[in-house]
Amino acid sequence: MNDFIFHNPDKVYFGKNQLQHLSEEILKLGKKALLVYGGGSIKKNGLYDSITEIAKNNGIELFEISGVEPNPRHSTVNKGATICKKENIDVVIAAGGGSTIDCAKGIATAALTENGDVWSLVSGGVWVTKALPVIAILTNAATGSEMDAWAVISNMDTNEKIGLGGSALIPKAAFENPEYSFTLPSYQTACGAFDIFNHVLDNYYFAGEATFDLVLEMQEAVMRTVVKWAPVAMKEPKNYEARSNLMWASSMALNTVLDAGTVHGCACHLMEHELSAYYDITHGHGLAIVTPRWLTYILDESTAPAIYRFGVKVFGIKENLSAMEGAKEAINALSDFCFKTLGLSSTLTDLNIDETNFKSMAEHACAGGPISGLKNLTSSDVEKIYKMCL
Ligand code: NZQ
Ligand code: ZN
Repeated sequence: MNDFIFHNPDKVYFGKNQLQHLSEEILKLGKKALLVYGGGSIKKNGLYDSITEIAKNNGIELFEISGVEPNPRHSTVNKGATICKKENIDVVIAAGGGSTIDCAKGIATAALTENGDVWSLVSGGVWVTKALPVIAILTNAATGSEMDAWAVISNMDTNEKIGLGGSALIPKAAFENPEYSFTLPSYQTACGAFDIFNHVLDNYYFAGEATFDLVLEMQEAVMRTVVKWAPVAMKEPKNYEARSNLMWASSMALNTVLDAGTVHGCACHLMEHELSAYYDITHGHGLAIVTPRWLTYILDESTAPAIYRFGVKVFGIKENLSAMEGAKEAINALSDFCFKTLGLSSTLTDLNIDETNFKSMAEHACAGGPISGLKNLTSSDVEKIYKMCL
């Protein structure tokens, strides 16, 4: 294992009755807030009314930007930044899923730049150390944005979807009430659940140096939690225990607790971000299609033992197989989870995607050099993996 520093300053209020602390968290930061939300789910589940009521009762002046798209656009971020500059906003409040939180983080960053344009920062790979403070109110267990230092922003004009990172992007506080996710449709629950699962698998578990036993066991526990509770939440959307387990798993998967001493890989994420950049698909669904193919592609004598261990620990497959047989069983178990248990369609063809753009997508995914992980991938490897997904 490698040396590591753990520092996550996000204060998490988890549970049913925590929104009462929202005003104190806002007022620590100022009196003028921009509320960022998406297509209206927070109006249907009552969260919008609760936030506006709290603001009204506590002398907080609330401005709004709504309509944040799944796969949030840089143009929407820039509109929010313009409001922040014009109104001298003190704090940006995101209420929604990862797209809304990411958009809020982008707004908070662009608001403090001279030209108010987030894309120049995103495309320039700037590490953000200065941004307005962000408070996240989470409604979808998925991305980990509520506790992490990242915002993924899309530019549909150039077919690019890129992560903006920086210590200043970690929310100052996050409110996680599993009840806010009761209204999530089954498809979105499945996609979010697989996103959580893949953050562990992709970023840490198969990154090549996950040799710190405590962390490895914790990573497997988070993946098992998703396997156990995602189907329950899909069948019983108001099951508080299922929603709680998924919500905390979402935060744990990317708040850096699980990457202590490991090395990041992100193979499937880099491949999926190209898919959603070109075809605007749902991130977790793209990951579910890519991940079993990626494992199949990288399977050989050197990778089989790690893949087999994953199958035993996460899916409970038999322990008396050869490494190669075990690894194949592990990949089958993962495919069954994605396509039977979560019910996600299994090919890119199902999503009306053909091979037209695979070459450019593969080249873009590898623009920073071969993708690292359990096995390094060149653009030609990535193109082959995309073809396996058809
Ligand atoms: O827009 P609204 O009306 O809120 O509806 C959303 C949206 O249509 C809906 N939804 C969210 N909570 C709901 C709800 N509907 C009913 N009830 C609720 N409680 O779900 C739809 C999808 O929302 P979205 O925010 O797009 O989903 P998710 O949380 O999966 O976020 C996906 C985005 O995050 C990025 C993805 O690439 C994608 O752009 N990611 C961000 C990461 C990060 N910041 O660290 C890491 C991830 O790997 C990921 O890349
Ligand atoms: Zn993800």
